[in-house]
Amino acid sequence: MRVLVLNGPNLGRLGRRQPEIYGTTTYAELVELCAGWGREHGLEVETRQTNHEGELLDWLNEAADAGTPVVLNAAAWTHYSLALYDACAQLTAPLVEVHISDPQQRPEEFRHTSLVEPYAVATIAGHGIDGYRLALERLKPST
Ligand code: DQA
Repeated sequence: MRVLVLNGPNLGRLGRRQPEIYGTTTYAELVELCAGWGREHGLEVETRQTNHEGELLDWLNEAADAGTPVVLNAAAWTHYSLALYDACAQLTAPLVEVHISDPQQRPEEFRHTSLVEPYAVATIAGHGIDGYRLALERLKPST
């Protein structure tokens, strides 16, 4: 089964961006890790990242058309993008929301709202990069 792991703005700078919050694993390492974790569960994982909101919307539309399950870390868009909310609403296959940090525990009030959560079968937050492994595990085909 194919799975898309979609990442929003600034996540391409993982490893260099605020490592005290997001850790030292680089984005390139995350891509490799997700492919490996997927293989363990028989999932063919494709990981993508964009700083352009419309591109993420196109990918979600593609997932809707193809019935592809999605692991989504929409980063800051999570908290305010109504277009993202609408794009998530039309997904047909399961969507798992992931955050490396736990936005609910962070001081900025704006992080406490998620427009992805209403359409997610699960939200995994605060587990660091390992959250992606947990999200892929959540999507593994039942045997
Ligand atoms: C994030 C949390 C968001 O609040 C933030 O804007 C991000 C990353 C996370 O993975 O912890 O860019 O989604």
